[in-house]
Amino acid sequence: MSKFNDEFHTMTKSNDGSFTAYSKEYGEHYHSTKDGALNESLYKHVIPAFKIKQNLDEINILDICFGLGFNTLATIYHMKQIGSTCRVNIYSPELDADLINSLKDFTFPDEFEEYKHIIFALVDNGVYSDDTLHVELFTGDAREYIKKFSDFFDIVYQDAFSPSTNPILWTKEYFADIKKACKKDAVITTYSIALPTRLALYENDYLVYINSGEEFRDATLASLEELKDFKLVDMKHKISCNPHVEPLRD
Ligand SMILES: C[S@@+](CC[C@H](N)C(=O)[O-])C[C@H]1O[C@@H](n2cnc3c(N)ncnc32)[C@H](O)[C@@H]1O
Repeated sequence: MSKFNDEFHTMTKSNDGSFTAYSKEYGEHYHSTKDGALNESLYKHVIPAFKIKQNLDEINILDICFGLGFNTLATIYHMKQIGSTCRVNIYSPELDADLINSLKDFTFPDEFEEYKHIIFALVDNGVYSDDTLHVELFTGDAREYIKKFSDFFDIVYQDAFSPSTNPILWTKEYFADIKKACKKDAVITTYSIALPTRLALYENDYLVYINSGEEFRDATLASLEELKDFKLVDMKHKISCNPHVEPLRD
């Protein structure tokens, strides 16, 4: 049995063959086991975000929350796959210091093998930097962390535990803070398709889009500006069909 398995976490194989973890504290997996951990990171977050944010020289990403680091590592992997020369800065809060310390024992997918030194640097020092990449891992509360930034992020990977399990990272007020931390043309990616999540975004003036594909179940994209290539969710219609729906609130 892997040393990663402890009182709070167990490692689970997901449907694409990559491992994810199960949190005994939250009663949830870190990724969809159906869609696959690596697939979920790539198709619900990284690939659509970089499809929208092409041709930038430098890109600032907020990775909520670091967890097993898949979204950060999948970003680095994807940049290499597409031969991108863009400078990438990733900022990621994570509350669970014990989880971070156990990451050296986690079985990452082969695709991440060449980036393991980055995980090791983040576990040891909380930061990794080279010529084209800067990653900062902040151990603490995401709600406080995001307040340090203003008009800064191009991409937000919104990947907290589910709204029912960890509601504080899905409220209308939370997304208002995210909006302040972001540039006007930023894009938010999330696996959540729940109407209250979409409403929390919509009530902060975000346009809400469906991210769909054969490799994964539908997900959500949000932007203050119109997005090409993605189908807009008709929020007015959704609200009229669900007149009692409310966004989560602090
Ligand atoms: C679904 S997992 C993130 C998965 C991660 N994106 C990945 O690719 O492995 C949610 C994470 O949020 C962390 N978390 C929960 N509440 C938090 C908070 N208030 N601030 C920062 N991290 C939090 C949990 O410890 C957990 O690691």
